[in-house]
Amino acid sequence: MTQDEMIDACLKHTLYSWAATGKVTPLPIERAEGIYLYGPNGQKWMDFNSQLMSVNIGHSHPKVVQAIKDQADTLIYTIPGSATKARAELATRLAEIVPGNINTFFFTLSGAESNENAIKAVRQYSGRFKILSRYRSYHGATNACLSMTGDPRRNQNAGGAPGFVHVMDPWPMTFSWGETDEEITRKNLIYLEEVIQYNGPETIAAMFIESVTGTNGILPPPKGYLKGLRALLDKYGILLVCDEVMAGWGRTGKLFAFEHGDIVPDIVTMAKGLTSSYIPLGAVGMSDPIAQYFRDNVFWGGLTYNAHALCMGTALAAVNVLMEEKLVENAAAMGEIMRSEIDRLTAKHPSVKGGRCIGLFGMVDIQKNSAGDPIVPFNTNSPVMAAFAKRLLENGLFTFIRWGSFMCNPPLCITKEQLLEGFAIIDEALEICDAAFEG
Ligand SMILES: Cc1ncc(COP(=O)(O)O)c(C=O)c1O
Repeated sequence: MTQDEMIDACLKHTLYSWAATGKVTPLPIERAEGIYLYGPNGQKWMDFNSQLMSVNIGHSHPKVVQAIKDQADTLIYTIPGSATKARAELATRLAEIVPGNINTFFFTLSGAESNENAIKAVRQYSGRFKILSRYRSYHGATNACLSMTGDPRRNQNAGGAPGFVHVMDPWPMTFSWGETDEEITRKNLIYLEEVIQYNGPETIAAMFIESVTGTNGILPPPKGYLKGLRALLDKYGILLVCDEVMAGWGRTGKLFAFEHGDIVPDIVTMAKGLTSSYIPLGAVGMSDPIAQYFRDNVFWGGLTYNAHALCMGTALAAVNVLMEEKLVENAAAMGEIMRSEIDRLTAKHPSVKGGRCIGLFGMVDIQKNSAGDPIVPFNTNSPVMAAFAKRLLENGLFTFIRWGSFMCNPPLCITKEQLLEGFAIIDEALEICDAAFEG
């Protein structure tokens, strides 16, 4: 099959997500290794987004590939009601390394399924129905998760699911809570308490947050926010769920992003980095009191592929590689280099408004003028950003563009030299954005 035949068949017989398929130009990928993707015609691209911020250990790690083969040779699938060695070993390992009193896991196949089941768990456990979440958030594409999501993808989810209340987070698009982290945290939490009062605290089961906001801006919370939020929710018996589907598993330079705020949530949801996307798997990690409740009471949820043995074996190998090769520590160290590269590009290019990163979780914003207006309005795409992405690909780098920003989320195994090479490609392509800068 030629590259063109492959692309034609994909476009003819499959739908692409979040797109009109007729307008999609898919990247043709034949194989991938480490931080690189390879096309059928000999193309090579540095994967500067770990695909969907998810291939944390890098592509095709031989130990994980071998573990998949070994697990396939031994046991691939059994009913959710069974006990398997793969399930026992993974769950035991997760209980060891997930912080605090989170020792029990319900396995799913994706981030959305993890959040769906977390929504059920907090409602069943608390006997309350409402869920608080934030506008600048994404929690998955199922009906309830899109209703919980705050970003524009929710708006096309006509009707949606009831019971979700959205609030502004510490970093809204244009509005500002204040100048300092302390002021921003304090005022945002005063506002949140008022929203809680309006909604009746006794009706609110939980608040879901991305511990570090992902697609909506790579936004680490201001100092003191996570601790303050935890205390506020505790005051009203509202559970805290940290959605770490994107930020978890080392991406931010800690195993879980909530560790930066020195808190432990009641529930943590995860997927992506749990298997580094080698095989689909998600999990709902529950604190001991919630887990105990579901030892005594039915958990009204289930999936045919709950605790699928092949996924369990894969996750254990991927987690072991992440820990043994000290990739979380590498993310923290490389994050410092990423920050200085982002600062260098900001100083050099008039079109670069600025950027931020925490570990290897980074994003850079492009502006159209010195007033700092984004190159494109909220929730729109621009030919300039499309041309910028095209140039990056031509020069050997794949990354994600979202509206007027681009992502910097390479696999956590990236070296300093590779990271600098990636930023050199970006540096060159930014001349396209500079040419569109209006002064
Ligand atoms: C924070 C967050 N939650 C949930 C999801 C949904 O995960 P999935 O696409 O695996 O359903 C995503 C996906 O990007 C995410 O970033």
